[in-house]
Amino acid sequence: MKIAWHGHSVVTIETDNGKRILIDPFITGNNLCDLDAETVPADVILLTHAHEDHVGDTEAIAKRTGALVVANVELAGYLEKKGLTTHGMQMGGQHEFDFGKVKMTPAIHGSALEINGLPFTLGLAAGFLLTIDGKVIYHAGDTALFSDMKLIGAGAPIDMAFLPIGDNFTMGPEDAATAAEYLQAACVVPIHYNTFPIIEQDPEKFCEKLTVSKGIVPEPGQSIQV
Ligand code: NI
Ligand code: MN
Repeated sequence: MKIAWHGHSVVTIETDNGKRILIDPFITGNNLCDLDAETVPADVILLTHAHEDHVGDTEAIAKRTGALVVANVELAGYLEKKGLTTHGMQMGGQHEFDFGKVKMTPAIHGSALEINGLPFTLGLAAGFLLTIDGKVIYHAGDTALFSDMKLIGAGAPIDMAFLPIGDNFTMGPEDAATAAEYLQAACVVPIHYNTFPIIEQDPEKFCEKLTVSKGIVPEPGQSIQV
């Protein structure tokens, strides 16, 4: 399995059987992103919630590649009407796909999308707990800290957690460090920072706060060892 972060909450995973997974593909307008929305490969796109900085280039990428879009039922229903192939889930539910297992986990955050100039809420924000090639990967999406994070890694130890640290819209570094403790994640990669001035953070300083987890600050596009 190959895994990489691409600025903001964008994460790509290439499985051992060659499946390309794209999480929250906010590429256009993401200055930290090393990917090209017109060429990025995708067999499946996972969306944590409906905000623009997460749905991003989903429609164009899915139409070009035919990728399956996995999202909450309301967002999936909307994207299905736009002509995409989708799989709707809800929090607490899990499903075995041909690339691995996906569990939709809770998040504390909004999930609105601008449609014809007006914001519409499409379901609830979520995170993903993925079991792929024998590894457990948690992508928190956008969320506040919540103590039930202690339950997310309880079933199987988390090998790698992607946690937002930008503050203002999500957890800041202090709360994200507490989240890492609750999750008991072996490795933590900070996400959702430095994309915009309001979420500027020092990821190395965040890593110094980690107790049980090893912090990793990859360059956008750099392959991360799980
Ligand atoms: Ni958001
Ligand atoms: Mn966001």
